[in-house]
Amino acid sequence: KPQMTSSRRSHQLIRTDPSVTLTCKQDDSQFFYMFWYRQRGGGGRMELLVYSPGASVANVEAPFNGSKYSAFRPTVLASSLQVQAVEAADAAVYFCASSRAQSYFGKGTKLTVLGESRVTAPTRVKVLSPSEKECSSGKKTLVCVASGFYPDHVSVSWMINGGAVSKGVATDSAATRQNRTYRITSRLTVFSEEWTSNNLFVCSVSFFNGTTTTYHNGSITGEAKSEFLCSTNV
Ligand SMILES: *[C@@H]1O[C@H](CO)[C@@H](O)[C@H](O)[C@H]1NC(C)=O
Ligand SMILES: *[C@@H]1O[C@H](CO)[C@@H](O)[C@H](O)[C@H]1NC(C)=O
Ligand SMILES: *[C@@H]1O[C@H](CO)[C@@H](O)[C@H](O)[C@H]1NC(C)=O
Ligand SMILES: *[C@@H]1O[C@H](CO)[C@@H](O)[C@H](O)[C@H]1NC(C)=O
Repeated sequence: KPQMTSSRRSHQLIRTDPSVTLTCKQDDSQFFYMFWYRQRGGGGRMELLVYSPGASVANVEAPFNGSKYSAFRPTVLASSLQVQAVEAADAAVYFCASSRAQSYFGKGTKLTVLGESRVTAPTRVKVLSPSEKECSSGKKTLVCVASGFYPDHVSVSWMINGGAVSKGVATDSAATRQNRTYRITSRLTVFSEEWTSNNLFVCSVSFFNGTTTTYHNGSITGEAKSEFLCSTNV
């Protein structure tokens, strides 16, 4: 199984007009075939752009041939895709794959074509306390709301007292546009017993601005008397 360039999704932000080159490397010379695909509009269909059967051959497939795409395959282990005259319609996640009998995909490069909006990190990350109505279930759901950012290259993670948690986390699959900025929410469900004043819950939003990733955290502490509040509320 070949390792593709990166095990994490990478991001590129670009203003309209110049060209952009996406590169991909893999590490297994038995995998002669390489491909490029694009996926537009969050979770849409995968469209085949490039088929490369070996070193120095890379064909841009119809209907994308003769257009703004050029492909290169300098060696068996590397391929690149160039997009000319980048415009809003080119915003997509571009995936590279390599294949022998079976194809292996990289995590993709998410290309964002910036509109008029300014690049802005999240202006607000807030963790909302659980609803009192949730008492009877034995669980508490915290909601993290991050807003005011552009574009939408973000990911959300949670920590309890500094330790990462992944169980009980549900994050929106995509950020939603709110006029000129984006907003995303994430939920963390914990046992009622964990919702105490001894525990600090942190929602951490990483934001990529084209060059750097920054972290924007919101936090909340549990309540000492949550069970008491529960019973008076029945
Ligand atoms: C694109 O490829 C198709 C199928 O091979 C071919 O018929 C067509 O002429 C090509 N178009 C250009 C602009 O090269
Ligand atoms: C954002 O758009 C909504 C309608 O979709 C509008 O009610 C609201 O005032 C707008 N907010 C800003 C800050 O422009
Ligand atoms: C914010 O979250 C990140 C991890 O995502 C962590 O490394 C950093 O220490 C946190 N900052 C604060 C002030 O809690
Ligand atoms: C991205 O963030 C870095 C560090 O905060 C800053 O130096 C850079 O100017 C920012 N880039 C944009 C496009 O805002």
